[in-house]
Amino acid sequence: MRTIIEPFRIKAIEPIRMTSRDEREKLIQEADYNVFLLAARDVLIDLLTDSGTGAMSAAQWAGIMRGDESYAGSDSYYRFERAVKDIFGFGHVIPTHQGRAAERILFSTICSPGQTVPSNSHFDTTRANIAYVGAQPIDLPCAESKILADSHPFKGDMNLQGLEQLIDELGSDKVPLVMLTVTNNSGGGQPVSMANIRATSGICHRHGLPLYIDACRFAENAYFIQQREAGFADVALIDIARKMFSYADGCTMSAKKDGMANIGGFLASNDEERAREERNLLILTEGFPTYGGLAGRDLEAIAIGLYEALEHDYQHYRIISTEYLGHHIAAAGVPIVQPPGGHAIYIDAAGFCPHLQALEYPGISLTVELYREAGIRAVEIGSVMFGSGAGGEEQPAANELVRLAIPRRVYTQSHIDYVVEAIIQVFARRHSLKGYRITEQPPLLRHFSARFEPLQERAC
Ligand SMILES: Cc1ncc(COP(=O)(O)O)c(C=O)c1O
Repeated sequence: MRTIIEPFRIKAIEPIRMTSRDEREKLIQEADYNVFLLAARDVLIDLLTDSGTGAMSAAQWAGIMRGDESYAGSDSYYRFERAVKDIFGFGHVIPTHQGRAAERILFSTICSPGQTVPSNSHFDTTRANIAYVGAQPIDLPCAESKILADSHPFKGDMNLQGLEQLIDELGSDKVPLVMLTVTNNSGGGQPVSMANIRATSGICHRHGLPLYIDACRFAENAYFIQQREAGFADVALIDIARKMFSYADGCTMSAKKDGMANIGGFLASNDEERAREERNLLILTEGFPTYGGLAGRDLEAIAIGLYEALEHDYQHYRIISTEYLGHHIAAAGVPIVQPPGGHAIYIDAAGFCPHLQALEYPGISLTVELYREAGIRAVEIGSVMFGSGAGGEEQPAANELVRLAIPRRVYTQSHIDYVVEAIIQVFARRHSLKGYRITEQPPLLRHFSARFEPLQERAC
């Protein structure tokens, strides 16, 4: 069969509240043109993030019922630990309430002020947590990733030459660890090849540096390796995942992505001494080491979800349905990051609105317009999220993207057809899109709460 179907049936539904254009116009104004400030009930199709927004399986809900809520040493913790060790292969598993808590604990114990942490691309919370401890996050994406329309199969790869050069220039004592984000969310949801993971690991270990993988979308990355990298076509996703992590010394994980859970995360490594220090910090800020800020039921959902993410039929449907959205809007001329990513499609907002300068925030303009048009919530990944902002002189980000992230197992093909139609309609009147300016912003992670107003004088 050529038609690829959702490999599940729907057992419980959640109504979507329909809104009119006039209502949405008023709501987006009240939210000061920041879609993060909209109430979810006012959104028709929510593509803000794939993080914690997925639908759980019947098996996960059954796991929730059996959650052991003992404070210390619960069965749920041991099931969670067994699953993480089985897939990721690390000896020390520290549960956290989400990915950024794992990041904060890792960077607080491993980094010193003045040090530098390279990555293929840091995610925003990773970047902020590194900066928060006085270290400097540096992105070293491969050259192919800089050409948005390039269809290279592994645009998430680390720039290996750049990494080697940076370590040589700074000296390895100034680099406490190297991070590798799989898939590379900020770089367009693009995968990292096994060859690149192996080579990055080789460079790190030659310099005596630990390699940590930001593992949020490890199962999607494993699927891309299976489909695109020679030698893996017949290898099961779980074995590909095990091989990926065999090259690393540790990982941070947001289980809200490929943990298929609504909350949770972990920090894992083989470093016993560091794990002891991390657990001390965990007790101070998250909770006892066998629950780490999570309920026993959450640990159960993650233990089951990690395996579900590695099911071939699920990943096949997941990646093909994301591509479906990408291919349909690209066919209508909408510029997107090619090839389509695993968890999201990234529209090139600068190409979509060539009449707007980077610091007129074309990504904000496009997210506002998608909401007005059809109640769709997407997110700007551009100069608001990654430009240098509050306080100093404003610098634009490398790209102005709008991400349409697809929640796992939530929307059907007709929902996606609706999204395609809306994007094409906005594209047809793209020259009318206005620029925006920031009227209020916090010092860190400003995209979550910044407020905007349209630039009247530059309407085109
Ligand atoms: C690549 C990456 N790393 C880290 C995080 C942070 O995870 P959390 O939102 O669970 O704190 C995210 C979240 O979106 C992410 O995409």
